[in-house]
Amino acid sequence: MEIVHTPVMKNEILSYLAPVSENPVMIDCTTGEGGHSQAFLDKYPALTVIGFDRDRSIQAKAIERFLPYGSRFIPVNGWFDEELAKREDCSADMILFDLGISIFHYVESQRGFSFRADEKLDMRLDENQKLSAETVVNEYSEEELADIIYQYAEERYSRRIARRIAEERSRERITTASRLADIIYSAVPPQYRHGHIHPATRTFQALRIEVNNELDRITPALQEAVRVLKPKGRLAVITFHSLEDRQVKWFFKNKAAQDGSITILTKHPVVATDEECRDNPPSRSAKLRIVEKKGDADYENN
Ligand SMILES: C[S@@+](CC[C@H](N)C(=O)[O-])C[C@H]1O[C@@H](n2cnc3c(N)ncnc32)[C@H](O)[C@@H]1O
Repeated sequence: MEIVHTPVMKNEILSYLAPVSENPVMIDCTTGEGGHSQAFLDKYPALTVIGFDRDRSIQAKAIERFLPYGSRFIPVNGWFDEELAKREDCSADMILFDLGISIFHYVESQRGFSFRADEKLDMRLDENQKLSAETVVNEYSEEELADIIYQYAEERYSRRIARRIAEERSRERITTASRLADIIYSAVPPQYRHGHIHPATRTFQALRIEVNNELDRITPALQEAVRVLKPKGRLAVITFHSLEDRQVKWFFKNKAAQDGSITILTKHPVVATDEECRDNPPSRSAKLRIVEKKGDADYENN
């Protein structure tokens, strides 16, 4: 059976975002398999979706899914911060970010995103990039590794884990996700091995963030997104990680205070309903924030 990613907080996003012009355009900055994009294409027959994704394999799935929609779906392969920077001012009615990776990456990509799999340690979304998880694990200094694991995943045993990785790699290069997971398991205290998450979860998350430079792309992309939105257009961001959510929250707060170009529509982040959390566990950590770009009249009234 094929496992397809379930779009998180789809109904909430549909209720906040809507076209503001006659020939509406939506930019889905993280199209993945296209769950959110499809919901919008189906709801608004005049809508065109420009779908970014850096990962060619998952993008191929979206392209196939949207064949029946013809030219209403325009795929763009690239990082969202770089692709948004190329777009014209005031050219999108709605912009969506659904950060992170998809279930596809864990179960199908064979790039070592899952610590349960005996796969090569890779984790690159961009197949042409040099830096992979294998490089980070084997070539970063012990201190750099510990810092990444602590900063990007708030892993309290980061130093122990980095030390054990350094010991093990001096014996033999670490090339698979399952070996790395075993090393991490052996590095943490026994009582930490049987918690509600596997002890390798956080370290794997930190490696993925480092390999794809995920955190450094968010604020520049949001800056561009506000520029690209049409007046009265809306921008929605779903995050799964406190460091991501903090960036989004502060960017919106500062932008609203500094130049008044946006209105924050979600004072507190929207979270998934209990029912969604039960049916789709990844939605439990999701936070949704939405802003609206002010129209010309709003500026005059300021
Ligand atoms: C959580 S999934 C999106 C799922 C999608 N909303 C759906 O409903 O099917 C995030 C997608 O964004 C892509 N991605 C992550 N960071 C990116 C970035 N900085 N630039 C472009 N694509 C990115 C990943 O490859 C992944 O396919």
